[in-house]
Amino acid sequence: MPLQIIVGAQWGDEGKGRIVDWFAAQGDFSARYNGGDNAGHTVTVGSRIFKLHLIPSGIIHPQIVAILGNGMVVNPHTLFDEMDMLRQAGISVSPERLRLSYAAHLITPAHQALDKALEAARGKGNLGTTGRGIGPAYTDKTTRRGLRLADMLAPDFCERIGDHVAEANRTLSMLGAPGLDPAPVCEQYREFAGRLKSHIADTSLELHAALQAGKTVLAEGAQGTLLDIDFGTYPFVTSSSTTAPGALTGLGLGLDAARDARVIGVVKAFQTRVGSGPFPTEVFDDLALRLRGTGEHPWDEYGTTTGRPRRVGWLDGVLLKYAIRINGIRELAVTKLDILSGLKSLQLCTAYRRDGKLFTDLPFGPADLSPYEPVYEELHGWREDVSAVRTWADLPPAAKTYLERLTGLAGVPVRLVSVGPEREQIVNHP
Ligand code: IMP
Repeated sequence: MPLQIIVGAQWGDEGKGRIVDWFAAQGDFSARYNGGDNAGHTVTVGSRIFKLHLIPSGIIHPQIVAILGNGMVVNPHTLFDEMDMLRQAGISVSPERLRLSYAAHLITPAHQALDKALEAARGKGNLGTTGRGIGPAYTDKTTRRGLRLADMLAPDFCERIGDHVAEANRTLSMLGAPGLDPAPVCEQYREFAGRLKSHIADTSLELHAALQAGKTVLAEGAQGTLLDIDFGTYPFVTSSSTTAPGALTGLGLGLDAARDARVIGVVKAFQTRVGSGPFPTEVFDDLALRLRGTGEHPWDEYGTTTGRPRRVGWLDGVLLKYAIRINGIRELAVTKLDILSGLKSLQLCTAYRRDGKLFTDLPFGPADLSPYEPVYEELHGWREDVSAVRTWADLPPAAKTYLERLTGLAGVPVRLVSVGPEREQIVNHP
């Protein structure tokens, strides 16, 4: 199928990177459509662990052309770090392989300073942002004073960067935060512009031509459905459209592309979230430690971008059902099933209860879901280590029951199950 959209069905960190990597083996283009370096997509290939914040995970496959779409906000610093890391691993990041939309927006040090100052000003009510300048960059975009990658090609780019820093300084001063000297920012961004020039293109046109020619395009979502600016747990969300329809606007594709699109929802076998906001099935103490891990392994539940410990909990079927609807997910890839091995019993949230009333759909409106108590169905756990399992038939019966129950709640089939961080640790259930 030409367009395949890979979208997170939870609060991000579902393991989209490794699922994109799996699909990219058969793909032609790998395209990120939203967010910036707040994301962290991890792909493990043998002893190598690739942590990508901006460049789509598909780039690891040599036949892939990687696209940073117009829906993204790009910090050139991070981009160059990633390009260097990939080059050192022998992966080409030539302008033919790495294409940047002219309409993507730039993140500058002023955006990062504003992000931090705004969070500090929110005090206890902070959003727990990644501090990467994401919100301020999207704010500039929607208030129509943002800087786009195309602006890097303009002769007055330096002046515009200077104006942008001066404008940000006014807000920083109101927030009681120190301002920035525009001169070094101008200088640095002028140098960045020279290095990026040959990568900047009309990627919408290129993707359109690719789809017309029958090529396969993987649209890689960052963050997850529940962090979407419109459909997430607002205001504890990110500032972009993380959902599958966002892939169309974030890549410049029309509805034609959506007609036959394969929408794959990535869902972790349990629930996690970083930062503030509601989390009805959150667990604490020993169980939380068990699900989160101690931090000694790269796959433990600590933020790829910020290193913060993730909050953890039982899988929330109400939120999963919601994600299926909002995205038009047709199949699921379940990740980290191996982490549940050894738990005596598992809880699956099938509904919320409030004042004796049951809710099987996400109640609209409240930013605080704490009055909604999760209703759990208890399922048997399994003792077996599943990390070497490669076929559905070889999964322990209790693991199959858990996945089948999840399918029943979601109403769509489970196609892939990851049972470990390695590329080949996948059960394909066609
Ligand atoms: P921002 O995107 O940095 O503005 O952060 C807004 C919220 O989204 C915070 O709660 C972050 O922790 C969360 N967030 C942003 N990016 C990611 C991600 O890639 N994975 C998980 N959470 C994220």
